[in-house]
Amino acid sequence: MAAGIDDISIYIPRLYLDAADFAKARGLDPGKLERGLGIGQMAIVDTNQDPACLAANACLKVMQKNKLTPDKIGRLYVATESSFDESKAMNSYVIGMLEQVYGKDTFGHCGGIECKFACVSGSYALYDNTNWIRAGEAEDKYALVVVSDIAKYDLGSSGEVTQGAGAVAMLLNNTPRLLSFDPKVTSTSIKNEYDFYRPFGKETPIVHGQYSNLLYLIQVKNALIDYKKKVKETGLIKLKEGETILDHVDYLNMHLPYSNMGKKALAYLVRHEWRTLPRWKEIIDEVGMEEPIPKDPRGTIESVLEDADFMAKDHQFTKLFTNTEKYVELYESKLASSLIASKMIGNLYTASLYLGFRSSLEFEYQKGVDLNGKRVGFCSYGSGASAMIFSGVIQPEYAQIVKDMNLEEELGPRTKLSLDEYEELHENKRTHEENIRSANKEFVIVDVKTSNESKGERHYAFVD
Ligand code: CAA
Repeated sequence: MAAGIDDISIYIPRLYLDAADFAKARGLDPGKLERGLGIGQMAIVDTNQDPACLAANACLKVMQKNKLTPDKIGRLYVATESSFDESKAMNSYVIGMLEQVYGKDTFGHCGGIECKFACVSGSYALYDNTNWIRAGEAEDKYALVVVSDIAKYDLGSSGEVTQGAGAVAMLLNNTPRLLSFDPKVTSTSIKNEYDFYRPFGKETPIVHGQYSNLLYLIQVKNALIDYKKKVKETGLIKLKEGETILDHVDYLNMHLPYSNMGKKALAYLVRHEWRTLPRWKEIIDEVGMEEPIPKDPRGTIESVLEDADFMAKDHQFTKLFTNTEKYVELYESKLASSLIASKMIGNLYTASLYLGFRSSLEFEYQKGVDLNGKRVGFCSYGSGASAMIFSGVIQPEYAQIVKDMNLEEELGPRTKLSLDEYEELHENKRTHEENIRSANKEFVIVDVKTSNESKGERHYAFVD
């Protein structure tokens, strides 16, 4: 049975921090943010917003757009790494908010859990719900998977430039208008790692930045190796002599903690795929240097990062490689459109990959590309660490949905924060009532209980 994404909605908070202002305040070269990391603006939550509000707002949008009543939703899954309760799942908060609009107990029949595995959990949630549909258990109901996060790092830390916030809600069914997932090829890799984690009670993560970058690349490559095996075994793609699987994937969406991580990941995967093919000779001729090899090719991530000579040469090689004609063509046609939204919004952790997918649909459609039948590959990564690779095919009805996508309109009008306002928000110096913007047709927090018997109870309202 087919199963996939029927529609998709995003909710992005309207406060933002401008990367150039931020760079100036932190004494950084704005070029590092703009060109080095690919960051233009970072969406920031107001005092009366949390990841549950973001998720509920995205769910409401997709339900209202499709005129869906709760009886049509059989599963509501929330994937997040910004959880604020160790026990009560974020789903219950989201359902509580949605029932303020649709009526008390209207979601009573609906199942679902909160999923956690850093940024990859949304992909596991999609996969599990796709299989719920494939198993014939959906009884003509949709699964609603919402990925929602607030990416927040310590003030002054290297990760502070890679913040952002937002949610993406995806409606799944067995007659998807947007994308049907390829069966039996979803591939994963997993390893116990400490590249990025957030111990109990801590609002911001502990991060080993360069380690996390390299681990991301390795884990995604490992999942790709498994994906290739499955694709060949199932006969989904038939490779001719000298071809790679990437030749048969029209679009690639990467997990985007910052937009240039997508570029880094694409270059890494393409190098891995091309280096054994006849075309590599032509590439090396154009690059003008051999691909560098670490002193200890079987060493650890630490040993590779400490190999300064290799790191410098590899950086130089990557720069030259990404300027080759063949690579530029691949980058422009398969990845570039997916990075536009990330540059304007920043890091959405679990939602980053799906914001990239949404971005790619809108901007490829605007270019006039016929997307029908195009294969989309998803490269999902979550610290800690696990990667997942899967793919799907864009469906003939896609234009019904994509023609109305307008990121600019959905984002705006936005309010630019001063550095002082940003730092006050970051350090939680304002109460939830001291919000900067007035809410408009959205869920917000109206009360957080502090008394012993009901500590942490959150109450929300829909502001019309
Ligand atoms: N002009 C242009 N480019 C410049 C520049 C300038 N003035 N100065 C630096 N750059 C370039 C650098 O050359 C570098 O480019 P390459 O990546 O091509 O080498 C880029 O800007 C970044 O510079 P640095 O690597 O020196 O930056 P940094 O040391 O400050 O660290 C970071 C960057 C590791 C991403 C850091 O921001 C960080 O720790 N972020 C949080 C962790 C993270 O996002 N990890 C990603 C993988 S893990 C993951 O994906 C899970 C998740 O969501 C968190």
